[in-house]
Amino acid sequence: MAGSLSVARCLTLFCLLGACIAPGARANRHSRRDLGIDLGNGGGIGIGIGGSGGGGDSSGGGGGSSGLRPCDFENERLYKAYKVIQKFRQTVTCDPQNIISSWSGTDLCSSYKGFFCERPPNITDRTIASVDFNGYNLQASSLKEFVDALPDLALFHANSNNFGGAVPDLSRLQYFYELDLSNNKLSPATFPTDVLKLRNATFVDIRFNSFYGELPGGVFCSFPQVQAIFVNNNQFSGNLPDNIGDSPVNYLSLANNNFRGEIPKSIARMANTLLEVLFLNNKLSGCLPYELGLLAKATVIDAGTNQLTGPIPASFACLRKVEQLNLADNLLYGEVPNALCELAFSWSGRLRNLTLSNNYFTSLGSCCWDLIKEGKLNVERNCIPYAPNQRSHEECAAFFHRTKTSACPCNTYVPCGHNKHAGAGSEQDTAAAEEDKYRTYSALHP
Ligand SMILES: *[C@@H]1O[C@H](CO)[C@@H](O)[C@H](O)[C@H]1NC(C)=O
Ligand SMILES: *[C@@H]1O[C@H](CO)[C@@H](O)[C@H](O)[C@H]1NC(C)=O
Ligand SMILES: *[C@@H]1O[C@H](CO)[C@@H](O)[C@H](O)[C@H]1NC(C)=O
Repeated sequence: MAGSLSVARCLTLFCLLGACIAPGARANRHSRRDLGIDLGNGGGIGIGIGGSGGGGDSSGGGGGSSGLRPCDFENERLYKAYKVIQKFRQTVTCDPQNIISSWSGTDLCSSYKGFFCERPPNITDRTIASVDFNGYNLQASSLKEFVDALPDLALFHANSNNFGGAVPDLSRLQYFYELDLSNNKLSPATFPTDVLKLRNATFVDIRFNSFYGELPGGVFCSFPQVQAIFVNNNQFSGNLPDNIGDSPVNYLSLANNNFRGEIPKSIARMANTLLEVLFLNNKLSGCLPYELGLLAKATVIDAGTNQLTGPIPASFACLRKVEQLNLADNLLYGEVPNALCELAFSWSGRLRNLTLSNNYFTSLGSCCWDLIKEGKLNVERNCIPYAPNQRSHEECAAFFHRTKTSACPCNTYVPCGHNKHAGAGSEQDTAAAEEDKYRTYSALHP
């Protein structure tokens, strides 16, 4: 009841402001699955929509009719934020969850859904420090003069909304460090270079939009403290920047774009920091690089569905932390190394899922056969005699006829010792892995 009351009020307000929403526009908004409502969305519960104190609080149109004065607010910063929010509120054209009706009155810190207050360093006033609209499905044609006009903002999370326009320039926000614009309707554009000015960024997430063109090298050298970079499910193309290894990123998802060319060898420099990397479903080519085997901390390496070729380098036996290794749907050949399969034995590694299906491997190391039975190794649709579900003789012959198998080095050097107890620590072999526990795999859902 309170809900419909406030809808009516909200519509009235919009009409007064001459920006009336056609009620029918609300109907078609429910298509998307809202996952990741990860931050403290619960913070804004119990919002007393109609009744939060002074009844005249819905007049915040920002126009002359607002009865609220600076002294009605806890401090000047919150008054300024109030004006910015009211201006943005007028631009919201769709709000299926009736969020914006909570954006009225003077109590920004506890009744405005999606807004959270904190004190910036050395400042005694509370101010808007984070905005979390994840899953709200709000629609607005632009975020400019909103996010960039909240000077104390540190986090902006807007997963699964319908925000359009360009990425605002947030470089003047001195505290800013987390940007999530995933799954919106931002205008198709090349990588938003203003984002590269966010020197303190720890989280950069623009997945599920329509960005295209090359990824600038700056993505990998502009954020000295970055933990996660998610650019999957866009239309990026071109080669991956050579300086990829300059980034200290822990979670990197490049999946579901049109990247081509080789996986840069500089990736070896991420050996101490990279935990999960998704190259999945691009057009990457060239030999599977020896350097990937140097990612000693990585738990997920997924280069499936590309055009990578060559044998699996012996360095892969050094992936002692890897749990999920997917190289399916490529043009790989040779023997699946025994030492790689051994990583599925607890004394050697942590491998739970080695997916090599749809390649052209011709033999398996002796330890590998048991893994097939255990469901940890998938080698379907290869060219391996006696293995189940292989490609036809003709298909294999045709591949080896057109592929020069000397083009990729046959690297047998294992750049890590054979100390069998150095690896995984079988004592804490945790429960079976579910995909959801991996941050980059979760990033493949909107
Ligand atoms: C906070 O104030 C202290 C003492 O005035 C100063 O040393 C420190 O640099 C200030 N920190 C910031 C982030 O401004
Ligand atoms: C990054 O943080 C430092 C220290 O807090 C600050 O001095 C600097 O202005 C910030 N840089 C940007 C681009 O926000
Ligand atoms: C193993 O990994 C492949 C490729 O990522 C995935 O399709 C499959 O569902 C995984 N299997 C298990 C049992 O986790």
